[in-house]
Amino acid sequence: MNQVSPTLSQSLLAAARAIAAVENGQSLTETLSETPADLRPSAQALAFYAMRHWGEAIAIRRLLVQREPSSPVVGALIGLSLLLLDVAMQEDRNKLDSMAPVYTPHALVDQSVQATQLQRALINYKGLVNAVLRRFQRECAQIHAAIANDPEARWNHPMWWIRALQKAYPDQWQQLLQTANLHPPLTLRVNVSVTSREMVQDAFNQAGILATPFGDAGLVLQEPRPITSLPGYDQGWWSVQDAGAQLAAPLLGLKPGMRVLDACAAPGGKTAHMLELADVELTALDVDSKRLERVQSNLERLKLMRSGVRLVAESALRSHLWWDGVAFDAVLADVPCTASGIVRRHPDIRWLRRPQDIAQTAKLQRSILDSLWSVVAPGGKLLLVTCSIFPEEGEMQAQAFLQRHAQAQRLPAPGQLLPMQADDTNPAGRDGFFYALFVRRP
Ligand SMILES: C[S@@+](CC[C@H](N)C(=O)[O-])C[C@H]1O[C@@H](n2cnc3c(N)ncnc32)[C@H](O)[C@@H]1O
Repeated sequence: MNQVSPTLSQSLLAAARAIAAVENGQSLTETLSETPADLRPSAQALAFYAMRHWGEAIAIRRLLVQREPSSPVVGALIGLSLLLLDVAMQEDRNKLDSMAPVYTPHALVDQSVQATQLQRALINYKGLVNAVLRRFQRECAQIHAAIANDPEARWNHPMWWIRALQKAYPDQWQQLLQTANLHPPLTLRVNVSVTSREMVQDAFNQAGILATPFGDAGLVLQEPRPITSLPGYDQGWWSVQDAGAQLAAPLLGLKPGMRVLDACAAPGGKTAHMLELADVELTALDVDSKRLERVQSNLERLKLMRSGVRLVAESALRSHLWWDGVAFDAVLADVPCTASGIVRRHPDIRWLRRPQDIAQTAKLQRSILDSLWSVVAPGGKLLLVTCSIFPEEGEMQAQAFLQRHAQAQRLPAPGQLLPMQADDTNPAGRDGFFYALFVRRP
């Protein structure tokens, strides 16, 4: 059957719905998974672009639309179309984000107006969308001048986030905000329990796919591709995992037969890595049973769902419900966090979080760590991991943990890793992570 490509107006409307859902607190990945399959790729490209430029969109929209439209989808459509019109009118292509969707101004205005005609509830907004976009076309230069000193428009992050980074990283905050708006590469971790990196690289080469090795088992692809089309997906030869996340499992020094707890396991990236490194007895715990299903399917694809692996849908805070009383040699605490270190990959995160989230997640992390410490064997290790760059979820959390637990001794671990874009010396770059390793004194 021939597939008909969606029109630009359909894609714009689908992306606007996704953006409106983010503004209502839903994650972009989640909301896009509800978008009809034929519209998903184009809506995703538009919505991801918009999230990386949303500070600018809001600032421009504020100048042009006096009264917020009562429909959040129309508000999102106007913001998105303004951004795309700005791209369309940019004469110097070198000034554009490499992923910027480029249309002609005429097509864009026409299709944005058409988008309002695709849904009954939006029909009356045709005139507003048309008027706002045409005014932007006329006054683009003045509008850019008017928002030039607006930090949210400049950095495309909410003001509280900008201030938090200025405070924590007085010399690096600008670079961090800039990196957060760049495009991460597709990085893989080879499953060394079923194949070798050389074999995977050969298979990729034969398929004309260029991949560069990094770290112990990593491969970074020169160009992103749909992952299920890559050689070895069904055979479980590799997993998608950022370079920063690939540092976790090796830090625990796992040996065959060790009792290991992965306390916040889903979707199982680090669970799989631990099982690839050693034949350990592993309990993978996650409070979210739906997400735990993804651990199961990932382990099955990677041929790691062996005896000695147990999946438990429970909270790390309620150890009396899942712990048999035999202490663990190694505990991975990849605790829930604001995810402020992975905004390159999830550009909606900065718009979803609220300032109070930092203290709230830090408090939950503290409770989880205290609960987990009681199941660590004498001489056993606890690895605290967060994908955050806020110190409250990193160094401050680690220091406070040491204060509360006299038997805990800190071992060498990377500490705070800031996000980095790939360069000549570091082909994969990485997301932002925090690592602290503790051993329980015997
Ligand atoms: C950062 S993610 C873990 C990522 C995972 N380790 C990986 O590498 O793929 C944090 C996980 O903690 C889980 N979580 C949140 N609160 C929890 C709790 N009280 N007990 C156990 N898991 C929890 C979340 O459902 C989420 O899946």
